[in-house]
Amino acid sequence: MTSATPTLLYIDDDPALARLVDRGLTRHGFTVVHAAGGSQGLERLAQGDIDVIALDQYMPGLDGLETLERIMQIAGAPPVVFVTASQDSAIAVTALKAGAADYLVKDTGGDFIPLLQVAAHGAIRQAELQRARDEAEAEVHAARDRFEALAAEREMLLREVNHRVGNSLQIIASLLHLQASSTTQQDVKAALTNAMGRVAAVAQVHRRLYTSHDLKSVLLNQYLDSLLEDLRRSAEGNRMSRLTLKAEPVEIDPDRAVAIGIIVNELVMNAVKYAYPDGPGPIHVELKAEGDELALSIADDGVGLAARSNPRSTGMGQRIVSAMASKLEACVERDPAHAGTRILLRFGRAVAAPDKAASAAAG
Ligand SMILES: Nc1ncnc2c1ncn2[C@@H]1O[C@H](COP(=O)(O)OP(=O)(O)OP(=O)(O)O)[C@@H](O)[C@H]1O
Ligand SMILES: [Mg+2]
Repeated sequence: MTSATPTLLYIDDDPALARLVDRGLTRHGFTVVHAAGGSQGLERLAQGDIDVIALDQYMPGLDGLETLERIMQIAGAPPVVFVTASQDSAIAVTALKAGAADYLVKDTGGDFIPLLQVAAHGAIRQAELQRARDEAEAEVHAARDRFEALAAEREMLLREVNHRVGNSLQIIASLLHLQASSTTQQDVKAALTNAMGRVAAVAQVHRRLYTSHDLKSVLLNQYLDSLLEDLRRSAEGNRMSRLTLKAEPVEIDPDRAVAIGIIVNELVMNAVKYAYPDGPGPIHVELKAEGDELALSIADDGVGLAARSNPRSTGMGQRIVSAMASKLEACVERDPAHAGTRILLRFGRAVAAPDKAASAAAG
């Protein structure tokens, strides 16, 4: 806030008029400081404590408009009331355009002094309002910057957490692998290897989330790509001749990605283990978007499901696929026309809306 007695810097080369202004405005509660020219005025301004400036146009040395231009270059400069003896409205327009707060025509008798007092008060009030507006705007900007910084930090932390979860799951997978390779019992080895594959499938989702631009979704095609790469590199994968992926770019939430990854892991491992008893053969994974639905198929050109029953089968794979499919609300079917085994899953891209699910349940 400005003090009760605002200080006006009167820049004019006319000492008689300066005395009149001093007397007139002091009576109206101003402190008046006089400068006899533009440069002198700028020097006084630099010393501070000026609330408003009255600036004459015609002066030797720097004239009013030149002085005004320099004042406007000073950050936080007080408002300027432009004063001139000229009736020339072009000067008034130029001064206002250059940043003067107000403009008035002076006379040698000092009749303009009451007008100057009103204009000076108005200019001070206007400058205060402007300052308050600038401060409010700066506060809004600062709040927005703070919010953006917090959001960025939160996202960074979430990425970090996903990275760590992914790493921890990968460690668990490695431990299971280690344990599998240190046992001589085939059943135990197989069970541990299966468990390892399932954990690795989940770990891969978290690693995908770490590198994803959006933390709420995973690009399913990229995820499946990494997952199949993991499967190729696994011990069982050595028995694969060709594991191919044809997938459209589809974004999906991480929970659904986990369920899909586990299903693909189970079905690909089944094909590896059972489809080609006489040596490796091709396995195809395909993901297609069909409107709001996704179609996922895992196929081999092997002996077919019914060809041999495995007495060692735990049936665990089947149960895991069913559980994950019901989580996805997927329909699972075998393609009877396919030579070999082809399992086809169809499910929505997103979780069914709760109100839809509720009305479906009610109806
Ligand atoms: N692609 C396939 N080709 C031929 N037979 C298959 C194929 N997939 C599954 N099977 C047969 O179906 C049986 C059941 O598979 P499922 O995945 O349920 O159990 P598993 O693979 O034997 O056990 P786990 O999944 O726990 O290792 C298998 O034992 C196998 O005989
Ligand atoms: Mg299986």
